[in-house]
Amino acid sequence: MFQKRTHHCNQLRKEDINQEVILNGWIDRVRDLGGIIFILIRDRYGKTQVVFDSNENKELYEKALKLRNEYVVSIKGKVRLRPEKDINPNMETGEIEVLALNLEILSESETPPIYINVEEEVSENLRLKYRYLDLRKEKMQKNLITRHKVMKTTRDFLSSLDFLEVETPYLTKSTPEGARDFLVPSRLKPGTFYALPQSPQLFKQLLMVSGFDKYFQIARCFRDEDFRADRQPEFTQIDLEASFVTKEDILDLTEKLIKEIFQKSINFFDVHIPFKRYTYDYLINTYGSDKPDTRYGMEFLELTDYFRNTEANFIKKAIDEGSIIKGFLIKNGSEKFSRKKLDELIEFSKEMGSSVLIWISYGDEVRSNIKKVAEKEINMLLEHGIIKKKAVMLLTMGELQSVNNILGQLRNKIIKEEFSKKEGFEFLWVTDFPMFAWDKEEGRIVAEHHPFTMPNLEDLERYAKTDPMKIKSESYDLVINGYEIASGSIRIHNREVQKEVFRIIGLNESEIEEKFGFLIEAFKYGVPPHGGIALGMDRLVSILVGEESIKEVIAFPKTASGSDPMTGAPSVVSSRQLEELHIILTISSDLAGQ
Ligand code: AMO
Repeated sequence: MFQKRTHHCNQLRKEDINQEVILNGWIDRVRDLGGIIFILIRDRYGKTQVVFDSNENKELYEKALKLRNEYVVSIKGKVRLRPEKDINPNMETGEIEVLALNLEILSESETPPIYINVEEEVSENLRLKYRYLDLRKEKMQKNLITRHKVMKTTRDFLSSLDFLEVETPYLTKSTPEGARDFLVPSRLKPGTFYALPQSPQLFKQLLMVSGFDKYFQIARCFRDEDFRADRQPEFTQIDLEASFVTKEDILDLTEKLIKEIFQKSINFFDVHIPFKRYTYDYLINTYGSDKPDTRYGMEFLELTDYFRNTEANFIKKAIDEGSIIKGFLIKNGSEKFSRKKLDELIEFSKEMGSSVLIWISYGDEVRSNIKKVAEKEINMLLEHGIIKKKAVMLLTMGELQSVNNILGQLRNKIIKEEFSKKEGFEFLWVTDFPMFAWDKEEGRIVAEHHPFTMPNLEDLERYAKTDPMKIKSESYDLVINGYEIASGSIRIHNREVQKEVFRIIGLNESEIEEKFGFLIEAFKYGVPPHGGIALGMDRLVSILVGEESIKEVIAFPKTASGSDPMTGAPSVVSSRQLEELHIILTISSDLAGQ
């Protein structure tokens, strides 16, 4: 039996001098000064300096010569004050050290493939292959501790308001959340498959039918979609739903939850509620995105009227044919945006589908790629103070939707590449989303949020048959610093409305029955009005700790190709396993997984 710790490695202070203590942990660093060895012993709480002095105990000193990084040890010793000159103000235990009296090596370590105590660039593959070592790093430990605090705060806060945490199945039926399902073959019913839930959406609605009027769950969700820095194939939602509520109730509850989470997990007390609210149309028209980072400004301006009578023929012609001219101003951009950079942006906007990108740069003099043909209009913009000294204006023209889209992409690119990261948090709600969207790939109407979202009933009556794209919905998104952190809606609780929505997204009676029969059936037996929201917990935590990628806040994430270099998942399975499932692969097993 080893000697158990009396303290953790970030606990001892000046007040503890002369105490005999035992510390357990990993060797973080060894400094051998000849005759005296200093080590840092580390655990998840922090580090403490331990001294092995050959003058005090030669035998122990010689044993300590064997110590290498990442050995696991138990050290008994006496706390003493460090000499004045050795005090380390950057370390919480920096005023003291422990003079070793006994050393037990509990486990040795080979040289680790990742240095734990140095910040260095390590390939993602290596980090994930040795994730257990990567997770020893102080930053990763802090990130997971913050994640824990978010979960705990959520559970405490919602429980205090009578919300009940109810688990819902992982092996379930495929439901349309918009992404591809992960499928799990059933052995007992050969030829059939479960789907892993994209979210607990239908179950939480059914819990409302059951009378659990306030539900939440810290729920794992699974979506087989393309990867991005803010997406993982399995991720976690703070999922909640309540009965007899309005949109205002859910927004208010979410704001309070967010405020509590920021306070309790990172001691940030400056969350001001209520958050700003913008309609979807406003944001698309102003930032070209329904999740803009508004901290950077660069709001769009429509300037068509300034160019109506221009002598620049290509512009006049486009305007006469119905194009609009729109753009945004980048303050202090004239120095930052060289000719080369502007040419790059022209290239980029071409790739995005723009016919033309106009730039006007007002540095020492006014320069522009339309100066020769549209000097008069440029002067007008200067006179009206629309283009300001030291700024660059970027403009494009075309049909409204495509102009918004191109400018939105340009704005995002510029924020990402040209601006240093802004401090602080900006919270905003997006409301009045369209109920439906056009899915180009599938060539059909789909639900913008999901088909259980309550449409605006007046819109539904007016446009269901004629122009469903005009129907707005009772859904809302929470955006923080340009990331969609949460999404939710008031739900349909009426069978007829639900069927009408299914009809609009192109499901016929038998498809409705096959896919959602159980929901429609449940709606026969008394459904309370209800609504809810789901917060992407990984995204929320990454914002709290200032990480770009959600992988930094997930203990064991997947790579961009959906694999786990540590375990080797996904992997080929034995032919016996496949036989049991009555599955025949159409690719040979040596090709599988490549
Ligand atoms: P939605 O699909 O918008 O809504 O998801 C809610 C929130 O989950 C986060 N999120 C993700 N995070 C990481 N990786 C992913 N692949 C991923 N996909 C989504 C986002 C998003 O805002 N059932 C509805 C919610 C409801 O209506 O109550 C739903 O799942 O932060």
